Amino acid sequence: MPSARLPLLLALLLPFASTCFPKQRRFQKFPENFLWGTATASYQVEGAWNADGKGVNVWDTFTHEGGHVVNNETGDVACDSYHKYKEDVQLMKSIGLSHYRFSISWSRILPDGTAASYNEKGMQYYRDLVDELTGNNIIPLATLYHWDLPQPLQDAGGWLNESIISYFEDYARICFQELGSKVKLWLTHNEPFETCWSAYGLGEDAPGYSDHPGTYPYQCAHNLIKSHATVWHLYNIRYRPSHHGKVGITLNVEWKEPKYANQTAAADRSLDFMLGWFANPIYVNGNYPQSMIDQVAMKSAAQGFKESRLPTFTSDEMNYIRGTSDFFGVNHYTTRLVEHHQNSPELVSFVADQDTLETFDPTWPRAASLWLYEVPWGMRKVLNYIRVTYGNPDILVTENGVSDHSGSLNDQFRIQYHSSYIANMHQAIQDGCKVIGYTAWSLLDNFEWALGYSEKFGIHQVNFMDPARPRKAKMSAGWFRELIKNNGQAES
Ligand SMILES: *[C@@H]1O[C@H](CO)[C@@H](O)[C@H](O)[C@H]1NC(C)=O
Ligand SMILES: *[C@@H]1O[C@H](CO)[C@@H](O)[C@H](O)[C@H]1NC(C)=O
Ligand SMILES: *[C@@H]1O[C@H](CO)[C@@H](O)[C@H](O)[C@H]1NC(C)=O
Repeated sequence: MPSARLPLLLALLLPFASTCFPKQRRFQKFPENFLWGTATASYQVEGAWNADGKGVNVWDTFTHEGGHVVNNETGDVACDSYHKYKEDVQLMKSIGLSHYRFSISWSRILPDGTAASYNEKGMQYYRDLVDELTGNNIIPLATLYHWDLPQPLQDAGGWLNESIISYFEDYARICFQELGSKVKLWLTHNEPFETCWSAYGLGEDAPGYSDHPGTYPYQCAHNLIKSHATVWHLYNIRYRPSHHGKVGITLNVEWKEPKYANQTAAADRSLDFMLGWFANPIYVNGNYPQSMIDQVAMKSAAQGFKESRLPTFTSDEMNYIRGTSDFFGVNHYTTRLVEHHQNSPELVSFVADQDTLETFDPTWPRAASLWLYEVPWGMRKVLNYIRVTYGNPDILVTENGVSDHSGSLNDQFRIQYHSSYIANMHQAIQDGCKVIGYTAWSLLDNFEWALGYSEKFGIHQVNFMDPARPRKAKMSAGWFRELIKNNGQAES
């Protein structure tokens, strides 16, 4: 311990020192055991689309159809991580990652989607990956559903068909059974907002439905939320006692900043439709946010629907859904300005239901992805919003990252992006948010869904022209190594 006199001495000298020397940069230290990782998803990196008995999934169908993805590119080979996972794990090890978030390809282990079609070779791939991770002291974090639904289940309606719930439960049971002794961190769903809006409403993602934007997204979400709760209960009752792990869900949210001080109601409504749609049932009361219930009921009635297009949960279902997450997974990239906008009453759409208009501040820097503006302070606001609105849960940042077109090794802009978002995450922790880890998207440049290989988020470059898919560390990978080694960064 320093003597009592030292602080006094420092206090006398400090004002003097700061005039003589450049200001000392403060260090943003993170809590002990803070998790630093990177994320990927099966369809975006694995390739091997028909290897070892894997079945066809909706993204195989969607990409092979043509017309949906930039240059009709596919994930047939992608980063070939199915064959190169050992090399991937060495990349992780060389930057000192504490965890790796990957997703399991449902159709790799259950080719037709059902338990009856179990494919041992597909499961072996995930056992090998998990063994490689744990053997290198990297914690595996597995996502059960990252958008690649087995095609036969899609043919029966996919997330619109309530029977998906028991298929998802069977699939999860097999994953817990086969991998649960080593995988202690699970996510049921990745970004259900995108599953139900981009894939079932907008039609940008597989299966590309865009004809029923005012009903399908709500029906999709209704089944998806139940599927999440079912799988959480399955784990809680059957596997938690022996496996002692955690099961959560990852929700994506843009910060919604009121465009003017008088627009907070519109911004809150926008957050309800994006985040609260899933978070309110799971973390608050088993039901949709009141603003959603009111908006969709009002619009539906005016449009002549007999009942609201937003389905209702029974009180038993609400009790079953409420509280079904052991931590709050959040993917956050960007921010929007929101104001009220009265939509024409005949528009039957999830977007029109919100009566909001979203814009961007022209001074915000934009990434290669048109939707991605760099607004680091949005991270602090999102984390605090989750703290206040959802009962101060443990929060795991499961994605955050930025894109360019070139995949250049000299990616200073990416270092700048991560550094400034991480600084705001550090401030959120000082504000009282219980953030337990940060996961950069992505370990590798990969197949960016409808944008194909035209947008690159990796901290490692992949040469997609070369059949061997060689990887190279970008500058940001070296920067992450330092960040992780120091468990923090100097304030910039
Ligand atoms: C992509 O596929 C669609 C449908 O087969 C075709 O019409 C289009 O010309 C293709 N585009 C390119 C760039 O090859
Ligand atoms: C829903 O799924 C079940 C079981 O797979 C199937 O029998 C039924 O036909 C499906 N319903 C629709 C409307 O596709
Ligand atoms: C909200 O504030 C903006 C900017 O101050 C102003 O132009 C607008 O008229 C206000 N709207 C309402 C409904 O008060």
